[in-house]
Amino acid sequence: MRRGTEVEVRIEGLDRKGRGTGSVDGRAMAVRGGLPGQVVRARVTRRRRLEGYLVDVVERSPLEVDARCPHSGTCGGCAFQELAYAEQLSALREQVASAFSGVGLAIDVPEVLGCDPPFGYRNKMDFTFGAMRWVELDEPEGVARDFALGMHVPGRYDRVLDIRSCALHFEEADALLTSARDIAREHGLPPWHVVRHTGLLRHLVLRKGFGTGEIMVDLVTSEDAYAHVDRWAAAMLERHPEVTTLVQNVNTRLASIASGERERVIHGPGTITERIGDLAFTISANSFFQTNSRQAAVLFSIVSELAAPTGDEVVWDLYCGTGALSLAAARTAREVWGFELADSAVEDARANAALNGVKNAHFVAGDVLASVGEASSLAAPSPDLAIVDPPRAGLHPKVLSALLRLAPPRIVYVSCNVHGTAPQVAALVDEGGYTVERVQPVDMFPHTPHVECVVALRR
Ligand SMILES: C[S@@+](CC[C@H](N)C(=O)[O-])C[C@H]1O[C@@H](n2cnc3c(N)ncnc32)[C@H](O)[C@@H]1O
Repeated sequence: MRRGTEVEVRIEGLDRKGRGTGSVDGRAMAVRGGLPGQVVRARVTRRRRLEGYLVDVVERSPLEVDARCPHSGTCGGCAFQELAYAEQLSALREQVASAFSGVGLAIDVPEVLGCDPPFGYRNKMDFTFGAMRWVELDEPEGVARDFALGMHVPGRYDRVLDIRSCALHFEEADALLTSARDIAREHGLPPWHVVRHTGLLRHLVLRKGFGTGEIMVDLVTSEDAYAHVDRWAAAMLERHPEVTTLVQNVNTRLASIASGERERVIHGPGTITERIGDLAFTISANSFFQTNSRQAAVLFSIVSELAAPTGDEVVWDLYCGTGALSLAAARTAREVWGFELADSAVEDARANAALNGVKNAHFVAGDVLASVGEASSLAAPSPDLAIVDPPRAGLHPKVLSALLRLAPPRIVYVSCNVHGTAPQVAALVDEGGYTVERVQPVDMFPHTPHVECVVALRR
């Protein structure tokens, strides 16, 4: 079968990337955009392991609903907005169950805790400026192609889809996005050209504290250009008095990342505050915070319930970010040690401890790999409980080995990538003598194949 060939496929399931799966002439095929229950026409993009994308729906699925977003199908932000939410949750549960059974762990996986409502949940969006715009099929002829502010089109590093509206981000974000684009164009500010490495505007990051209403606008630029940025910022603030802080980050490197080498606060305190349950968090532009505030409350309470440290226990929180899980644990633990790479997040974590009157939490800046090795010289007592919440790649293998050596009696593993986590949990069981006491998946990212999963282990 050649690339570009169109084939008809009955979609039977979803794979871990959220693509529909079916078979063609007895061979398994993954179809981007295909939903369980549909019969689709798909164009082949890879031949060896058959892959393709949806061209047309031949037969609708009984599980299908109408998408809310005008960009659904083109934008890669959502994988399956047209799949009824209850079906999404059961597909995610299947993913979690098969990840654990795939590494030989027989675990009873409960239902995924869903997000209600499953729209407008993101408290942070990172949009890209681009000089090579992706033009959608329904756009008028002759539309300008040299300026876009939105998301990368899946599979195209160079093309940016101009986003007018998104069903996932917070309510005010559509209007902020439109103004950011309009003002940049009115002022003639050039977007970044990813091939030529020219242009000023690189990213627009919007953040909101759902519990406080505070809003941050972070403009990431390729150089200082303070006078240009100040004019843009003044116009933004005039149109949007709801913005409580506006910052500029400068990223002179080629890598397309939204954090900068230097940050300049143009308006407000440079941070926003979020309130989750009875805890308050200061968040700066370059610090990690859970992107779904509603579900963060659910996640934190599950972690608190499963961790439930006693007054005598020492807790280590590896990859602690701005200290959310550390602070939740600190209420009942003897002391908590948080380890985190990003300096700004560590500063925020310390400020958050003070903000919440927490005196028994200590935060160590640096690579967890080095810090955990040096913990004894830092006067951190050995942990009775380790909470680990690594980035998508999972624990560094050497951190996993260090955990096995430290052998805390209990571990709570918070994972946003169960396929990477399951083998590490199996290693803790097989090599460390742990048993899995409970697993609880939480849907932090509705309409995407990502699922958060909390695993409680006891040695
Ligand atoms: C998934 S977040 C967890 C944040 C935190 N538990 C929370 O709920 O807010 C992962 C964190 O790991 C940090 N990180 C990534 N690599 C690291 C490393 N090598 N050493 C320490 N921290 C790291 C990131 O900066 C990020 O804050």
